[in-house]
Amino acid sequence: MTVVLQKTALQGKTKRTNTIQLGKMHKRVKQTSRSRDAKLDKYWAQRFSLFSRFNDGIQLDDESWWSVTPEKIAHHIAARFHKSLGGGHLTIVDGFCGVGGNLIQFALYSPHIRVIGCDINLERLMMAKHNAKIYGVEHQCEFILGDFMSIIQSLQCQAIDAIFLSPPWGGVDYGIVEKYSLNQMTPDGYEIVKLCRKYITNDIAFLMPRNTDIDEVRRVLLTKQYPELECEHNMVGTKVKTITMYFGRLINPDSELAESSSQLLNVTNVPDVVTIDDDIEEKDETETSLQVEVIDSEDSW
Ligand SMILES: C[S@@+](CC[C@H](N)C(=O)[O-])C[C@H]1O[C@@H](n2cnc3c(N)ncnc32)[C@H](O)[C@@H]1O
Repeated sequence: MTVVLQKTALQGKTKRTNTIQLGKMHKRVKQTSRSRDAKLDKYWAQRFSLFSRFNDGIQLDDESWWSVTPEKIAHHIAARFHKSLGGGHLTIVDGFCGVGGNLIQFALYSPHIRVIGCDINLERLMMAKHNAKIYGVEHQCEFILGDFMSIIQSLQCQAIDAIFLSPPWGGVDYGIVEKYSLNQMTPDGYEIVKLCRKYITNDIAFLMPRNTDIDEVRRVLLTKQYPELECEHNMVGTKVKTITMYFGRLINPDSELAESSSQLLNVTNVPDVVTIDDDIEEKDETETSLQVEVIDSEDSW
């Protein structure tokens, strides 16, 4: 991850205090013009790629800043669900909905889509509800608080068309290993899929780290009963950011299955340069703009 701060006509050295609204949180950041927190800037610069309606009052907690699915990827996944499942009235379960990045895009895709969002964290679930309201889709969403591994079984009695999974990858350290195993996750990624298959459906999409050990996924999850999967590389700009693994009816019949190759799909285009000068409360006369250029945001998830 490299963040380059470009300061244009920045001559003033006055100490300023800026209030930066991070979703619900208001962080008061004491800084000189030259000592802006680069990490904060990175996420802040990406806010509209996470939620295009960010300025309408979107709420995120600290963890969600790096774990929410960027809106364009979430929209792309929602479009695939809708197409693969044949449109019409659908019920989709988002097993790990967080603050609603995917949940909102599923609901937004069609007024006939109902989404059941589950999360173990109450605060995040409340934020998902709040964020869904901002996008005008709250009435299409239901929220269940609890451990998805326990919730799955109780969802058996409902007519569910498909399941979306984006469990936590164990923090930003997931990138340290060359090959990431789904059993490094908590809950274990393989166990999640097995339970979904057992109690609900094999029509599953699973958002995984880009360094996921695909061969291991094949070995563990491809069986006689479930012989196919599709591996989609999601790119932001020119970088693979995540892998989405599709099972069952969610496999695109036009794409090659992971058995032979993986599909390379450029689904997002995050703007390289985001101007954030409107965040500065007390402007120096001499300062015309402060830009953050995100060269490479590889550890966003
Ligand atoms: C990667 S985030 C999901 C982000 C979400 N897709 C979005 O775009 O906003 C993973 C979420 O799983 C939740 N979680 C962790 N363990 C869980 C469990 N056992 N059952 C349900 N949710 C869990 C976390 O609280 C977190 O909000």
